[in-house]
Amino acid sequence: MSEKIRIENLRKSFGPKTVLDGVSFSVNDGEILCVLGKSGTGKSVILKHLVGFLNPDSGAIYIDGTELTGADEKTKIALREKFGILFQGAALFDSMNVFDNVAFGLRRMKLPEEEIARMVPEMLAHVGLRGVEEKHPSELSGGMQKRVGLARSIALKPEIMLYDEPTTGVDPITAGAVDRLILKMRDTFGITSVVVTHDMKSASKIADRIVMLNEGKVLAEGSPGDILGSTNPFIRQFVEGKSKLDM
Ligand SMILES: Nc1ncnc2c1ncn2[C@@H]1O[C@H](COP(=O)(O)OP(=O)(O)OP(=O)(O)O)[C@@H](O)[C@H]1O
Ligand SMILES: [Mg+2]
Repeated sequence: MSEKIRIENLRKSFGPKTVLDGVSFSVNDGEILCVLGKSGTGKSVILKHLVGFLNPDSGAIYIDGTELTGADEKTKIALREKFGILFQGAALFDSMNVFDNVAFGLRRMKLPEEEIARMVPEMLAHVGLRGVEEKHPSELSGGMQKRVGLARSIALKPEIMLYDEPTTGVDPITAGAVDRLILKMRDTFGITSVVVTHDMKSASKIADRIVMLNEGKVLAEGSPGDILGSTNPFIRQFVEGKSKLDM
């Protein structure tokens, strides 16, 4: 199994506040890795490092064996193009309809309009949406907006998808549908996925592996079975505390 992403001893502080205090983990090609941790532990900060929005104070990130940290601009752009992101909010353009939102990246790539017209409905169909091209984001439910965001990302054929809290703030039925979509992206397109969440239930359904963060460090790493069955009192506290909160 080859390593798609390797994070080595990543450290990041904002002023006096240390957020990442030597974080290391890897993501294998084609797997779904869930990163779990309390609010404010630096989960979103890790995702921002992966796509180069933030630079670490020290440590290294390798994508397909190429070092991102310290790479030249051209290499950084090439590595950035491997990623799709579903942000914590869906981050759609409110002034554009669904078609234009999904077409946005394709137009930036200067694809012919007729090809875009063919691709947009196809991408929407992948996320279970039909006939919504003319609607504006404000006319859609939160779950539908997330689907449009996902359609916009997969249109660009990412090798790696980053999901930031994809099931937070949606009802349990929508959360289940989002979980199934994340699995479908892995199974249909072989996409490697990093899913940041504090939803233990969702993680146990979709994760091939789980990394648990606490106070800027990796507290535990393993299969959902390893984590749920752990007798380590810190992990138990997290697993039980969180699942109670989520009920
Ligand atoms: N650009 C920034 N400047 C200063 N502080 C930041 C910045 N980005 C993040 N932080 C701080 O880093 C810490 C971790 O933030 P982060 O957004 O990664 O948390 P999180 O684990 O994603 O939490 P949540 O589950 O609430 O989304 C927080 O204390 C936050 O205030
Ligand atoms: Mg976050």
